[in-house]
Amino acid sequence: MANVKPTVQLLLALTAITAIAHGETTTTHLHFYMHDTQTPSPGSPATAVLVARGPTPSPVDPTNRFGDAYVIDDPLTEGPDLTSSRTVGRAQGFYLAASQSLDALLLSVNMVFTAGRHNGSSVTVMGRDAIFNEVRELPVLGGTGVFRGAGGYIQIRTHSFNISNGNAVLKVDVFISV
Ligand SMILES: *[C@@H]1O[C@H](CO)[C@@H](O)[C@H](O)[C@H]1NC(C)=O
Ligand SMILES: *[C@@H]1O[C@H](CO)[C@@H](O)[C@H](O)[C@H]1NC(C)=O
Repeated sequence: MANVKPTVQLLLALTAITAIAHGETTTTHLHFYMHDTQTPSPGSPATAVLVARGPTPSPVDPTNRFGDAYVIDDPLTEGPDLTSSRTVGRAQGFYLAASQSLDALLLSVNMVFTAGRHNGSSVTVMGRDAIFNEVRELPVLGGTGVFRGAGGYIQIRTHSFNISNGNAVLKVDVFISV
């Protein structure tokens, strides 16, 4: 029983630190569009490249296979139009066809910002992207720069998807607390 008292004191100290941190929490909402280009066109290079192919063709999807892996470096823009809209950053990472029924990806990206007061700061996102759902929620695992120590989540909505060439524009809302 002799070590009970120090443990209680440690818990109280940790509680106090948590309370102080709560008082200084700031929440940021960022909103932008992510351009995932699998098929290039003039003036719009591919930003998502297939680096590994799943072994088994799918009976439900002629294009995608369980196990497909894409590496991405997708531009992030203020508005939905890639050419006329201001670039605010890039989403660099990968996605995997991690569902055998091909209805969800594992998305793992660092979103690095290149404009305004967030220039040079980044957030790291990893989670399940159930691509046919209207809204997908993925956790923000952390951040750097002004987002150091951040936590939160993002919401992804499909703004447009071209089924014949695989190109997608995604609407992204980021909610982060630091
Ligand atoms: C962002 O920061 C980099 C490096 O400090 C700088 O070269 C660049 O001009 C900045 N961009 C904007 C839009 O402020
Ligand atoms: C969809 O992709 C096809 C094939 O690349 C292309 O011909 C067509 O113009 C695209 N549709 C839109 C709306 O961009």
